[in-house]
Amino acid sequence: MNIILMGPPGAGKGTQADFIKAKYRVPHISTGDMFRDAVKKGTPMGQEAKKYMNEGKLVPDQVTIGIVEDRLAEDDCQAGFLLDGFPRTINQAEALDKVMDKLGKKIDAAINIFVPDKILIERMSGRVSCKECGTVYHLVFSPPSQSGKCDKCSGELIQRSDDNAETAVNRLQVYIEQTSPLLDYYKNKGLLKDVDGNRDSKSVGSEIESILNGL
Ligand code: AP5
Ligand code: MG
Ligand code: ZN
Repeated sequence: MNIILMGPPGAGKGTQADFIKAKYRVPHISTGDMFRDAVKKGTPMGQEAKKYMNEGKLVPDQVTIGIVEDRLAEDDCQAGFLLDGFPRTINQAEALDKVMDKLGKKIDAAINIFVPDKILIERMSGRVSCKECGTVYHLVFSPPSQSGKCDKCSGELIQRSDDNAETAVNRLQVYIEQTSPLLDYYKNKGLLKDVDGNRDSKSVGSEIESILNGL
């Protein structure tokens, strides 16, 4: 099962990926998480990526494509994978097609979680995540039981630096200009599956589950 999870910033890709990876035992490949990890470790790639992420811009394709190509060649991806936040440009999608050809594989579905802009802004502005284990919460929609503390590991809850109002609006604009053309790209291949993300996470998850079970 080789799946792409698409959708604008704050649509719930990471939230749904958590459930999919647990249920279907596929590795979750989030380019955003990979970049945040590199920023945290202070690697040269992280330092380069940080400049773009803090402004809500896309990290250049040559950097992004390289890390995904390497990741997809790893052993744990051979029986299937879940891409989250990649591809995000036509150039990245074409590069992914080439990598898949080289590996003798194909994409089975591109699941597009769609949500109105106003709700996306609310989701991004209220998101916090655990500094230790990465669990994601929302201050209003899925708050932790104790303010500022992770339910799972008691770690400190922090806000992503790109979730401030100004950067969030930039990310939405970048999505519309550079990523939304990909919807037609996958529709034309017969792979696009639209899912209404403006419902509770469980309902969104059930619909994704029935799509995946039907593949
Ligand atoms: P990335 O990390 O991919 O961010 P994004 O696409 O902007 O998406 P988010 O992670 O913000 O949202 P999500 O859809 O995962 O939502 P979540 O489940 O957390 O990218 C960050 C940056 O990295 C980019 O701006 C770019 O600079 C760079 N980058 C990454 N990939 C790249 C690429 N391919 N090319 C170039 N650059 C790249 O949910 C959001 C909130 O809503 C949470 O609080 C959650 O609890 C809540 N929530 C989720 N679902 C629901 C629901 N159904 N109801 C109520 N609340 C919900
Ligand atoms: Mg995410
Ligand atoms: Zn935690």
